[in-house]
Amino acid sequence: MTELIFATHNQHKVSEAQAILPASVHIRSLHDIRCHEEIPETQNSLQGNALQKAQYVAERYHCHCFADDTGLEIDALDGRPGVYSARYAGEGCSFADNMRKVLDELRDVKELERRSARFRTVIALILEGKTYFFEGRVEGFITLQPVGAEGFGYDPVFLPKGYTQTFAEMDAAEKNRISHRGRAMAQMIDFLRKA
Ligand code: IMP
Repeated sequence: MTELIFATHNQHKVSEAQAILPASVHIRSLHDIRCHEEIPETQNSLQGNALQKAQYVAERYHCHCFADDTGLEIDALDGRPGVYSARYAGEGCSFADNMRKVLDELRDVKELERRSARFRTVIALILEGKTYFFEGRVEGFITLQPVGAEGFGYDPVFLPKGYTQTFAEMDAAEKNRISHRGRAMAQMIDFLRKA
């Protein structure tokens, strides 16, 4: 049994990971190890941020751990919001504020094909002092308006390519199967099985 700390305060992501990872990998949250401080995330790449968060926790809590960082990359906005997805509309903004800003910036791009985007997740895993990276992505389009109430973040405006429902209309299992984080996690699971 491998015990891994998921270096995130987002309980939604911890539950998602618990549902995806095999029973042989026991996930604990920062809450479980009584880590309540904010984890610094000041790099300008997904890989840099994932590594920074994993290192911070591994060094202080002497554990095996992983962290992820995700960005929504919109082609018509030159890849924005990208690494700045969480606070795109400003410090303290809500998911709704971020979606509003993206939809506003895309107001002159009416055709769905020109609203192409992807979610990209990078996971940094620190195991026995060594670092490993895994990446997952899902291609799709930004809808003209938010649809659906499940999930979080930009889910209501993200229509995965080849599907007729946004992420926010899918149940968690369906989203996990095709999502950026699900795919990155699948790669990490594959690695852990062979390790
Ligand atoms: P994080 O690196 O996982 O914290 O993600 C940064 C930001 O990207 C989040 O605050 C969300 O706005 C967005 N995001 C990350 N994952 C998802 C997802 O699965 N669906 C929708 N938005 C997401």
